[in-house]
Amino acid sequence: MKALVTGISGFVGSHMAEYLLRQGVEVVGTIRNRSRMEHIRHLLKDIRLVECELRDPFSVETLIDDVRPDLIFHLAAQSFVPTSWNSPIDTIHNNVAGQVNIFEAIRRFGLDTKMQIACSSEEYGHVEANEVPIKETNPLRPLSPYAISKVAQDYLGYQYYKSYGLHVIRTRTFNHTGPRRGENFVTSNFAKQIADIEKGKKPPVLHVGNLEAKRDFTDVRDVVRAYWLALEKGEPGEDYNIASGTCCTIAEMLALLLSFSKEKIEVKTDPSRLRPSDVEILLGDYEKFHKRTGWRPEIPFEQTMRDLLDYWRAQ
Ligand code: GDD
Repeated sequence: MKALVTGISGFVGSHMAEYLLRQGVEVVGTIRNRSRMEHIRHLLKDIRLVECELRDPFSVETLIDDVRPDLIFHLAAQSFVPTSWNSPIDTIHNNVAGQVNIFEAIRRFGLDTKMQIACSSEEYGHVEANEVPIKETNPLRPLSPYAISKVAQDYLGYQYYKSYGLHVIRTRTFNHTGPRRGENFVTSNFAKQIADIEKGKKPPVLHVGNLEAKRDFTDVRDVVRAYWLALEKGEPGEDYNIASGTCCTIAEMLALLLSFSKEKIEVKTDPSRLRPSDVEILLGDYEKFHKRTGWRPEIPFEQTMRDLLDYWRAQ
């Protein structure tokens, strides 16, 4: 069994590769020439890397012809919401064109590859109070260019399944975190600030944006197990929420992190961290996925956040 992981050097990609190797799967991953290798350095002897620009159809066609994977975990993306405000078309081009190129190559070579597409709870966007926990049937009311790019990826998955019978599973994953999470994202950003304060690298002031938003966090190690099950047991063409089924405010998440530290830390709002529009609440219902695959999140949020803080302490 051979799996192709796009974006293997990223946060989720590196955990996905570790999980697949434990299943005895042969792992091939795509990187770009500017990819950082620190998350996968320990795996280099066990995986094969291919340099590929996913936005370039020729590059993707060559990749697919060469690898001919049984499974694809399509994780490569511009995944930071604020970047999509600064450069909307780049996010849309990167996320949408990359996926179309993969689908087109699979279709043209007539492969029966099973593909998992990393869609997002951001697609739900504005959610009414009576719509939580959110089911897959909820209307999509995206609130950022990033969310739009993920809606496009999601519906392209549906369309290529309907039009050509490609084996596509759309996973709508709610927020996820854990060791190696990029420092831009809120959990990692706050954990790194605390670790830097503990090391005396920064004064005891922690900068924050909107603390009122509510998010549903799952551990990345539970998420990659879900992606594996999605291809093993998911129904082609379907969409599945991957979530914990609980949520907390960003303020509560921060309070938990601060409770792990002995430092006295002042919390200060930094207006540059506020967004033109923020999704107020994301709380997912993962029942559909559970019924189909038996998946449930296993790692408690406290453990995830402790592991994340320890990760930054060790950097
Ligand atoms: N990044 C960041 N930095 N966010 C902050 C900060 C801060 O200093 N302070 C408050 N927040 C708030 C944001 O306004 C948002 O409401 C929430 O924390 C989470 O922000 P992010 O961690 O940047 O994640 P996200 O919810 O925008 O998007 C993540 O989850 C999606 C799934 O719902 C990303 O991982 C996406 O790629 C993913 O699709």
